[in-house]
Amino acid sequence: MPVGTQGTIKGLTNSQLEDIGCQIILGNTYHLALRPGADLIDELGGLHKFMNWPRALLTDSGGFQMVSLLHLADITEKGVTFQSPVDGSPMLLTPEESILIQNKIGADIIMALDDVVKTTITGPRIEEAMYRTLRWVDRCIAAHQKPYEQNLFGIVQGGLDPVLRDICVKGLVDRNLPGYAIGGLAGGEDKDSFWRVVAQCTAALPEDKPRYVMGVGYPLDIVVCSALGADMYDCVYPTRTARFGTALVPEGLLKLKHSVMADDTRPIDPTCYCMVCKNYTRAYIHSLVTKDAMGSQLLSYHNLSYMMRLSRDLHTSIIQEQFPEFVCRFLSSQFPKGD
Ligand code: GUN
Ligand code: ZN
Repeated sequence: MPVGTQGTIKGLTNSQLEDIGCQIILGNTYHLALRPGADLIDELGGLHKFMNWPRALLTDSGGFQMVSLLHLADITEKGVTFQSPVDGSPMLLTPEESILIQNKIGADIIMALDDVVKTTITGPRIEEAMYRTLRWVDRCIAAHQKPYEQNLFGIVQGGLDPVLRDICVKGLVDRNLPGYAIGGLAGGEDKDSFWRVVAQCTAALPEDKPRYVMGVGYPLDIVVCSALGADMYDCVYPTRTARFGTALVPEGLLKLKHSVMADDTRPIDPTCYCMVCKNYTRAYIHSLVTKDAMGSQLLSYHNLSYMMRLSRDLHTSIIQEQFPEFVCRFLSSQFPKGD
């Protein structure tokens, strides 16, 4: 899922997102609730209609964004307290309020409010956050007014502790939700711990429901997590890295700012059939990056096309029982020297 914060994916129009095969995008409750506001979106017929996006939408619950964006956020049993970025006044986001806002925004998938702590901290706070996440999911379920229209996903927390992760997974599975997310990752832990947690959670979550790894990720992480059984991902990476002048290609990364690009008449990726690779040279994009918004727009278009193609090829390979071959092809092109 490409990530849009303010009801738009930076640099692309909705019809471009449809052209590249994008089925679902993510919006952030926190940003949308601040501006333009959940009541206004509700009055104007919901987010699909408001932003004219006919395909699926997912909204995150808001707590994670507050904690990651605002250093002043404080978490208590009631909810997440934070200072309004608009006027500095204290505000409280409770599990009930998060669901009420997400009911008004009207996405197809909504997320329970979770208590997120960094995987790099240790001690009793991890356990507290995991049990609180389970108590909050019950408050979210009770507050949810449109269970037949919007799918409420629960989020597994528990840091890097396998015992806590196990309790959280079992607790959520008992609540029989339509889908499950694995949260609290991609926050600076080493890859080994990250993949170990994903492997443990996907193995214990039902195979017939979506398993979503939040905030992931890089192409390699998506391939590895899919091998471990995960189905869904979201990340700002393809669009953010585009704004820094970097293209995603089968071999890894291509830095369009680099001076060697100045007279390179090849497309970004000769194997890519996206609109950008069909029409523009590296030299042209090099001349735009950091100078004109079109540079990052063209790179975002290519990078999201790359991610959509990767997801599609990965999915097709699973259906055709060719997933191991897909993984070998992917890895040998990203790591040609075998390292
Ligand atoms: N986005 C990335 N990680 C997380 C998480 O743990 N919880 C929520 N709600 N959103 C996230
Ligand atoms: Zn391309």
